[in-house]
Amino acid sequence: MSGIEWRVFPDPDELVAALADALLAEAAAAVAARGAFHLVLAGGSTPLALYGALTERNAGDARWHLWYGDERCLPADDPGRNSVMVESAWLAASCIPPENRVPIPAERGAVEGAAAYGSRLAGVPDFDVALLGVGEDGHTASLFPGHDWGTAPDSPDALAVAAAPKPPPGRVSLSAARLCRSARVWFVVTGGGKRHALRRWASGEALPAAAVRGTQETVAWVDAAAWPADD
Ligand code: 6PG
Repeated sequence: MSGIEWRVFPDPDELVAALADALLAEAAAAVAARGAFHLVLAGGSTPLALYGALTERNAGDARWHLWYGDERCLPADDPGRNSVMVESAWLAASCIPPENRVPIPAERGAVEGAAAYGSRLAGVPDFDVALLGVGEDGHTASLFPGHDWGTAPDSPDALAVAAAPKPPPGRVSLSAARLCRSARVWFVVTGGGKRHALRRWASGEALPAAAVRGTQETVAWVDAAAWPADD
């Protein structure tokens, strides 16, 4: 697994511009090399600005294949769903066909949703880029401290999560093992609320975010507000 690179930007706008450019460059390279680009989407609120920038760039086409890092067990049209957030911020207006951006069926419950997602992922190549957020407790996707992160190499691709500390309690998440087979893992972390988590992460604590690394590259895209430089 690759070591982590911390890329710190003065503000979220500069971070998003650089990240959007880097993402488009990786997509072009993957399409040129393999005719397809497999991208894992981050949930939560942090990536909203990135998804807006990708809309402005008219990013994506039929060679892009999008996968969710995790999904909350809520009705499919619930505004709390990660899929509803990404569709409204970017995908609904994009040229990426619906069959290339199928949400995790988490409305069916964590166990059934994880089983269905795992079946869909069978035969899907290793992801080119996995975008991930990080919570204030160091969780990523829906891999939470004190829970099973699915780190064993033979772990299933998708995990059913119960009793998540961040509501809703029921979730479906990619496992750490599946995420760690991604070529590039890119965390996106902004805001002062994440400073404590980053300090713990950078100091080597065994947080869920620390368990996820790319095979070629692991980058934390961080703004100055979240970076614990002077602490
Ligand atoms: C979710 C996300 C989760 C998120 C982090 C950060 O379903 O909540 O997948 O992993 O990325 O909790 O969330 P914010 O970006 O909203 O701080």
